[in-house]
Amino acid sequence: MLTALEAMHQRRSIREFDPELVSLETVRQIVEAAGRAPSSKNTQPWRLFLLRGPPLDDLRADYLAAFDSGRPRQPPYRYSPETLPEPWMARARAVGIGIFQHKGIGRDDAEKRRAHDRENFRFFGARQVFFLATQESAFSYGTFLDCGFVLDNLMLGLASLGLGSCPQFSAMAYPDLLKKHITGSEGALFIAGLPFGRPKPGSHVNAFQPSRLPIDEWFKVVE
Ligand SMILES: Cc1cc2nc3c(=O)[nH]c(=O)nc-3n(C[C@H](O)[C@H](O)[C@H](O)COP(=O)(O)O)c2cc1C
Repeated sequence: MLTALEAMHQRRSIREFDPELVSLETVRQIVEAAGRAPSSKNTQPWRLFLLRGPPLDDLRADYLAAFDSGRPRQPPYRYSPETLPEPWMARARAVGIGIFQHKGIGRDDAEKRRAHDRENFRFFGARQVFFLATQESAFSYGTFLDCGFVLDNLMLGLASLGLGSCPQFSAMAYPDLLKKHITGSEGALFIAGLPFGRPKPGSHVNAFQPSRLPIDEWFKVVE
């Protein structure tokens, strides 16, 4: 098992998985640990659903049909400001261009770009997907912050056991389909999807690793 620091360094977004199912015992071990996340006043405002088997297959089929029909995305909340300020915009463009270049997809290859985008709607072929949510009636920034700790704990817990995942806002595109297929999600406000599993060995797409800023650009010691 990796240490916390090793898992933080090793984690990256995984977009191609082995077909093997992760055992529910392992899943429970990771979820149990992720639930140790702190939250303001210990409110633990998160809800987590694991989809696998037929419910996931059905959701995936509906998601792909919606994507293929060109249905507009209607996520339940706005992730970013309408216009990303610089230098965030430049970084967002760089990661987009970076992954297309990595996959050998040309600037004008609309078909391959669409196929790349479509992968999101099949949850990268994962056999299991977590859906993180909070309570619709209690939306607030702090609630989202608390839920983010759980999301990161899940990713790091998976990484520590040699498993991979990819956080997905794109999986929030059709909340009505999430509600339809995720039993017991009444009143849930979905935040992110997290397809996970064993990374496919030798996968080219999984080798993509966006760089990070040198810490001196965003970290200051004030003393
Ligand atoms: C909340 C959240 C939502 C994301 N949504 C998507 C997504 O829909 N599709 C995708 O391919 N990557 C998605 N990403 C992954 C980011 O692109 C990725 O984390 C970033 O480029 C850094 O790369 P790394 O995770 O490999 O370190 C998301 C990341 C976060 C934190």
